[in-house]
Amino acid sequence: MKSAEVRRKFIEFFKARGHVEIPSAPLVPENDPTTLFTSSGMQPLVPYLLGEPHPLGTRIVDSQKCFRAQDIDEVGNNRHTTFFEMLGNWSLGDYFKNEQLPWIWEFLTKELGLPKERLYVSVLKGDEESVNIWKGLGVPKEKIFSYGVDKNWWSRAGEPDKMPEGEPGGPDSEVFYEFTQVKHDPKFGKQCHPNCDCGRFMEIANSVFMQYRKLGDGSLEELPKKNVDFGGGLERMTAAVNDNPDVFQTDLFTPLMAALGTSGDVRARRIVTDHIKAAVMMMADGVVPSNKMQGYVLRRLIRRAMVKMQQLGGHVSDEMIHAVVETYGGTEYFKTVGIRFIKQTIAEEDEKFGKTLREGMKNVENVSPFDLYQTYGFPIEVTEELYQEKGLRLDREQFEKEKEKHQELSRTAAAGMFKGGLADKSGATTKLHTATHLLHAALRQILGPHVQQKGSNITAERLRFDFSHPAKLTPEELDKIAVLVNENIKADLQVTIEVMSYDEAIKVGALAFFGERYPEKVKVYTMGAFSREICGGPHVTNTGVLGSFQIIKEESAGSGVRRIYATVA
Ligand code: SER
Repeated sequence: MKSAEVRRKFIEFFKARGHVEIPSAPLVPENDPTTLFTSSGMQPLVPYLLGEPHPLGTRIVDSQKCFRAQDIDEVGNNRHTTFFEMLGNWSLGDYFKNEQLPWIWEFLTKELGLPKERLYVSVLKGDEESVNIWKGLGVPKEKIFSYGVDKNWWSRAGEPDKMPEGEPGGPDSEVFYEFTQVKHDPKFGKQCHPNCDCGRFMEIANSVFMQYRKLGDGSLEELPKKNVDFGGGLERMTAAVNDNPDVFQTDLFTPLMAALGTSGDVRARRIVTDHIKAAVMMMADGVVPSNKMQGYVLRRLIRRAMVKMQQLGGHVSDEMIHAVVETYGGTEYFKTVGIRFIKQTIAEEDEKFGKTLREGMKNVENVSPFDLYQTYGFPIEVTEELYQEKGLRLDREQFEKEKEKHQELSRTAAAGMFKGGLADKSGATTKLHTATHLLHAALRQILGPHVQQKGSNITAERLRFDFSHPAKLTPEELDKIAVLVNENIKADLQVTIEVMSYDEAIKVGALAFFGERYPEKVKVYTMGAFSREICGGPHVTNTGVLGSFQIIKEESAGSGVRRIYATVA
């Protein structure tokens, strides 16, 4: 069975059970400073899991693009990837365990036709309710495993102790597929079991019962409504349906693997395949290589793929990019940024790094690993790998120091991102979000209606807003904009929310973020007669609470795009 059929079957199965399909959110979350990438299906839905009503109701289904940088070291085996698609269904305070577990069982065994004898399930120790439901579905008790919170509790931060204040989470119940052709490797423990890492079992479905929120005193409180957050990796489900433990042999990877050529070390080939696909997907969502944040992750992926391709005796080619785009032919993933831009970005990166790479590799025996990293711009993990592979002499102390510096850089970026907790819906951020709408409206009024939002990033300290405009703003323009925003703060405009269809929203003059795919029903935030935008929120209820607005800086953010940093006090 092909992946597109698995994806379609899942969506249709849940639509037939009253769910509304929503499009995948972009890989880079908009208006969410808490994280670099969307790394799980629930991330764009956090406000709704915490209790805000969803404009489309209480039953949602989708396939969400995800990127997990933390899995990068595991890429190379037959099942870990940094980019993946997560099939998800949600109950937002609607149904719970009694419906969810039987539906997932029916989907896996009837729709996908997975043989029951190959399926195992796990529950959180003590969750007798789930055990009984599984038994009722005919799962024999020796195939029901109980684990602790390290395995059967899900939140974005992990187990309850690690959850920051405000974060939702809950116990989960997983389904595993057994590849009987894979023999257990005792290196991973005497006895094989569903959570063993030997590769005989693969987790293909995870139903999270999102019913708690972490409080400031470290305890958990029940959410006002209990939710279900289901996630199943499309790549893994497709591998299970085809009874082949290697996800790189599913049709989600084979065209790209083929574009690499057929020979060479399989681990290296998988790494290139994973990295190129993830890089293409990021670029399709507007990320460009740089030395900061998402752009930095993208640059590392491309460079590591380039080094590996060089070792494999080839180079990153246009065919590889075409292979990724063709693989996702039936989706909307390449609607905003086209293949030409992606090819051009890779070519530019090749120009910057390719020559250095070829020189660096020629001299690899003569150059110190430190210089490979420092002078030639090799990603740190590549430098370390080369050291291991080639036995290069390395000034360990100097290298470790350098590595520490690099880790510190990543940590600082992450700390900045995570300030205010994972689910940063803090008052300061919310105020700045409302200020962003006022700024957007003021820019259009002062500069003209050609101004369109190109990006937005808000932390608790400042807002950052990118918009289309051909020239640097003059001090007079900046002044007028700030004055206009401040007038509308003083006017203490009421902020109201309405739910309507996308077409209606456009008709009533709501601004939409160009290039984003919106669901059928959207939320529209209106601030007096001054501003109206399609937006997911949250916002303050009256603009007066913003106090006063100041522009900190105005600069270029690419050709024809300007960037403003501003704050409120
Ligand atoms: N949030 C869960 C996960 O990411 C299920 O969707 O695994």
